[in-house]
Amino acid sequence: MKIALFAGDGIGPEVTAQARRVLETLDLPGLTLFEGDVGAAAYRRHGHPLPQETLDMARAADAVLFGAVGDFSCDDLPRDLRPEQAILGLRSELGLFANLRPAAGFPGLEHLSSLKPDVARSIDLLVVRELNGDVYFGAKGERDSKGGREGWDTMSYNEAEVRRIAHSAFRAAMGRGKKLTSVDKANVLETSRIWRETVIAVAAEYPEVELDHMYVDNAAMQLVKSPGQFDTIVTGNLFGDILSDQASACVGSIGLLASASLGERQTEYGTFGLYEPIHGSAPDIAGQGKANPVAAVLSLAMLLRHSLGREAEALRIERAVEEILADGVFGSDLGGTASTDEVGDAIVRKIVTTS
Ligand code: IPM
Ligand code: MG
Repeated sequence: MKIALFAGDGIGPEVTAQARRVLETLDLPGLTLFEGDVGAAAYRRHGHPLPQETLDMARAADAVLFGAVGDFSCDDLPRDLRPEQAILGLRSELGLFANLRPAAGFPGLEHLSSLKPDVARSIDLLVVRELNGDVYFGAKGERDSKGGREGWDTMSYNEAEVRRIAHSAFRAAMGRGKKLTSVDKANVLETSRIWRETVIAVAAEYPEVELDHMYVDNAAMQLVKSPGQFDTIVTGNLFGDILSDQASACVGSIGLLASASLGERQTEYGTFGLYEPIHGSAPDIAGQGKANPVAAVLSLAMLLRHSLGREAEALRIERAVEEILADGVFGSDLGGTASTDEVGDAIVRKIVTTS
């Protein structure tokens, strides 16, 4: 079993260091860990945010654990050298088209949400975001126009792209509450018309799943108004980027939420995937011991579940996290005083004592 660890920038190294400690505590036989450079750190060392050796390392691994990329120092770089290209490049080069972003409240932390506690408590949803297409990867550029320089991007989805993410979403919904909401803007966009028609066609293969459709503006409103109505949401790359951040804020802290990006490649142990916290590199708090390592640790749990077939260990980690949060061990982002290391210590201690 091989895990590639790409810590990246900002708080990425601090939070993945805690995930690494948790992994070492589990002491899985036959596991090797490789570390590679991504983001601004890789740009400084190799002149590119996603060096070839990093990509090769990912391809040779059974799973990738990713920290975060992004740094103020790169704000003036051309787009293809910016740290964000590391994660976008990994997603497209590795064919990771299905992004799973679960958002569920942690008991006792409802007060952190900007929503009323009983509304926050009702959240238990999964955003399935398409990750290889849409306006993110379409042709784009700059041209002259009557109004001066004009930036342009292309949004598109073909049926094959929609079909495969729809299958991922229906399968995910089958493992949850069997309710799927497809989010689009079919009243305006041709992309969304094809999206909706294709999702409806795929639904015929999943008669047990209740499917409904929502325009993205309405979905954004419903997410804050009554998030409890959602079980599984499937949507495109751009809408999914926005709605998954919104869902995490409804839960309370972006520092608690993990994600998995999966493709079609099967390994000896499971589905190859990349796992990363939803939060970014937060360069403003980097190196201060303030970062919340929970999302990185929960990303490791998802990695063990989906890519290494280690459900028992995934559950052990998730239980340990729930318990330390219930014990009140958390940092300033959740109104507590624990440092990044102290949260990591507490998780490791729970895992050792419950083994
Ligand atoms: C995310 C991030 C990325 C995205 C950025 C860093 C390119 O916001 O993973 O949600 O837009 O997909
Ligand atoms: Mg985002």
